[in-house]
Amino acid sequence: MTQDIATLDAIVARAPVIPVLVFEDPESAVAIGRALVAGGLPALEITLRTPAALDCIRACRTIEGAVVGAGTVLDAGQMEAAVSAGANFLVSPGASPRLMDAAASARAPLLPGVATAGEAMTLMERGYRRMKFFPAEPAGGAEYLKALASPLPQVKFCPTGGVTLEKAPKYLALPNVMCVGGSWVVPADAVKARDWGRIETLAREAAALARG
Ligand code: 3PG
Repeated sequence: MTQDIATLDAIVARAPVIPVLVFEDPESAVAIGRALVAGGLPALEITLRTPAALDCIRACRTIEGAVVGAGTVLDAGQMEAAVSAGANFLVSPGASPRLMDAAASARAPLLPGVATAGEAMTLMERGYRRMKFFPAEPAGGAEYLKALASPLPQVKFCPTGGVTLEKAPKYLALPNVMCVGGSWVVPADAVKARDWGRIETLAREAAALARG
């Protein structure tokens, strides 16, 4: 099938920010996931960048109210492993032809990454209308993304990469932005200190951001 837009839209409708997460172990993953959900960010993107990532996806699926995505999905094998671990959605930094072939029969919707009009058009040929704009700030930021809205009004983006609480509003005000992604809500020092209260506070600030 082509992209399951309705499911992705329902997920991103739940909060303006998708936290991008790098988890080292399931126990702290669940504690952080609970803090994020309590703060109002129920859609979690757990990146496949650590050996424990799949176990963390499985563990976070037990958090009431959480919608658990797998991020940094680079190939068909990772896609299958993430879905088998219970991922509700999949995110990739880019879109290779083989990854897109695998996504056509995956049991969870993919939000693929693009950084140019040409890449977006290639995905549009496959029926894609929801994309990650990555890496958002280095690729040109909100100004750049705004310039894609006129020629490509069908496409809605989730800018990710260098987005912060301060930078998020200029993206969220754009007509072609549905949400933003970012790791700022889970700072490394808060994780080290096991300061889940601080993460919940950062999530609450992020969840209060207005969409345009
Ligand atoms: C990602 O992994 O998708 C982004 O690199 C997250 O970017 P950030 O750490 O700059 O928020």
